[in-house]
Amino acid sequence: MLPLKFAIAVFLVVLIGNSIVAEDPYRYFDWNVTYGTIYPLGVPQQGILINGQFPGPDINSVTNDNLVINIHNSLDEPFLLSWNGVQNRRNSFVDGVYGTTCPIPPGRNNTFNLQVKDQIGSFYYFPSLAFHKAAGGFGGIRILSRPRIPVPFPDPANDYTILIGDWYKKNHTDLKTILDGGRKLPFPDGILINGRGPNGVTFTVDQGKTYRLRISNVGLQNSLNFRVEGHKMTLVEVEGTHTLQTTYSSLDVHVGQSYSVLITANQEAKDHYIVVSSRFTTPVLTTTAVLHYSSSNTPVSGPPPGGPTIQIDWSLNQARSIRTNLSASGPRPNPQGSYHYGMINTTKTIRLASSAGQVNGKQRYAVNSVSFVPLDTPLKLLDYFKIGGFRVGSIQDSPTGGGIYQDTSVLGVDYRQFVEIIFENNEDIVQSWHLDGYSFWVVGMDGGQWTQASRDGYNLRDAVSRCTAQVRTKKRKNSI
Ligand SMILES: *[C@@H]1O[C@H](CO)[C@@H](O)[C@H](O)[C@H]1NC(C)=O
Ligand SMILES: *[C@@H]1O[C@H](CO)[C@@H](O)[C@H](O)[C@H]1NC(C)=O
Ligand SMILES: *[C@@H]1O[C@H](CO)[C@@H](O)[C@H](O)[C@H]1NC(C)=O
Ligand SMILES: *[C@@H]1O[C@H](CO)[C@@H](O)[C@H](O)[C@H]1NC(C)=O
Ligand SMILES: *[C@@H]1O[C@H](CO)[C@@H](O)[C@H](O)[C@H]1NC(C)=O
Repeated sequence: MLPLKFAIAVFLVVLIGNSIVAEDPYRYFDWNVTYGTIYPLGVPQQGILINGQFPGPDINSVTNDNLVINIHNSLDEPFLLSWNGVQNRRNSFVDGVYGTTCPIPPGRNNTFNLQVKDQIGSFYYFPSLAFHKAAGGFGGIRILSRPRIPVPFPDPANDYTILIGDWYKKNHTDLKTILDGGRKLPFPDGILINGRGPNGVTFTVDQGKTYRLRISNVGLQNSLNFRVEGHKMTLVEVEGTHTLQTTYSSLDVHVGQSYSVLITANQEAKDHYIVVSSRFTTPVLTTTAVLHYSSSNTPVSGPPPGGPTIQIDWSLNQARSIRTNLSASGPRPNPQGSYHYGMINTTKTIRLASSAGQVNGKQRYAVNSVSFVPLDTPLKLLDYFKIGGFRVGSIQDSPTGGGIYQDTSVLGVDYRQFVEIIFENNEDIVQSWHLDGYSFWVVGMDGGQWTQASRDGYNLRDAVSRCTAQVRTKKRKNSI
């Protein structure tokens, strides 16, 4: 009798628990991370696969879902995945970067419990350690609105993840060796669309229907332009913000950024090129995929349509035109513009300048002159268990102009502070800045040196709230 009573007792507890709070749904993932041979540019190379796939599987979720992701590391090196854009409001211990999370040792597994709390939108995950990203291990994350929350456009006929990025034939260990030898990354060998080379992927559409494309730049360092032959794209969402539905014939996607566009199959029923090309580079790298009309018997032909190449102002103007639709709902039914960020007083200003240089003969990158070195234990854990071992303020909150040195840099801000951050880029490539676990409003983007007067030009009304911003080359800066 005893086991039966026990079972009933447990059942009752569960029932009561359910009737008090309707718990948010759980989604379980069991992932095996392995090396495997891939041929994205026609030559065999060692890629990082998840459950045998390159790119890895998409994570499909709905606002507030709990994601339980058990990751088995079958590589010969420690491994971590970071959930780019997921805010981890309840548990930043699983952010999956050096500062917060212990790497999964080779041959072991670890389970990540995340909740996509109060979020919608298009994001992606990627390996955050040891240049693994150059070998794969990335995939899409989508967070759909809950059924009763209005979305500012009709349901698309289908929804496609499109991961674009520059790619090297060299493996991640060889690329690391180049940096450790004091040199910068070479020019990439190509661009991949969903892990494939030219015309390696086909997206099928039906004449007259509208589709959502979720485009993320998962590459290492190149800004890319995305376009579809003969078709216009309507931008609808940027990293969790529903945008003004502006129509573009091509879109710049900087490293780490995610965009959702709608595209209607309203052209001749043949196959059309989807084109991705590098921005601000000479030469220009270009690759293609295929938009296939289901009734088409005509393959793509001729040269793919050209796009912007080195024009910086074009890109800047496009970025400025991307704004929040203040009357559309986000994860909740209240309009996205009901929180007036522009009326909140800034309580702290931080200026961050990126730089590149050599440290002990190795190529390193720095923020306000500090090149970050991880400690053996994640800072988040040292802090939580009050162990110490790092110093808050070990990086200045504005550029010092000094040479690069190594430290475990930790910048302090106070709880509930409203912070203005100015990014400065004196390098000759576009830099992407990602604030892990947070979104920020991109209030200004301009050339020249930032001054107090730059604040007069801030967009304090309908800037987009996002997690990754590009900062243009040489003396151009952004503020968030
Ligand atoms: C992961 O894949 C490798 C290679 O196929 C296999 O040896 C290993 O048993 C798998 N691990 C799990 C947990 O499935
Ligand atoms: C490792 O995976 C096994 C099942 O595959 C699971 O039972 C166990 O909880 C996992 N361990 C961790 C630490 O996630
Ligand atoms: C903004 O969102 C509203 C509400 O969903 C929608 O009706 C409107 O068309 C959108 N406006 C633009 C310019 O995207
Ligand atoms: C990368 O390629 C080099 C040869 O170029 C090889 O020695 C090394 O083992 C490879 N590393 C991995 C992780 O595949
Ligand atoms: C912002 O600061 C001004 C001047 O100090 C003050 O009058 C105002 O109430 C503050 N606004 C908010 C929202 O705190």
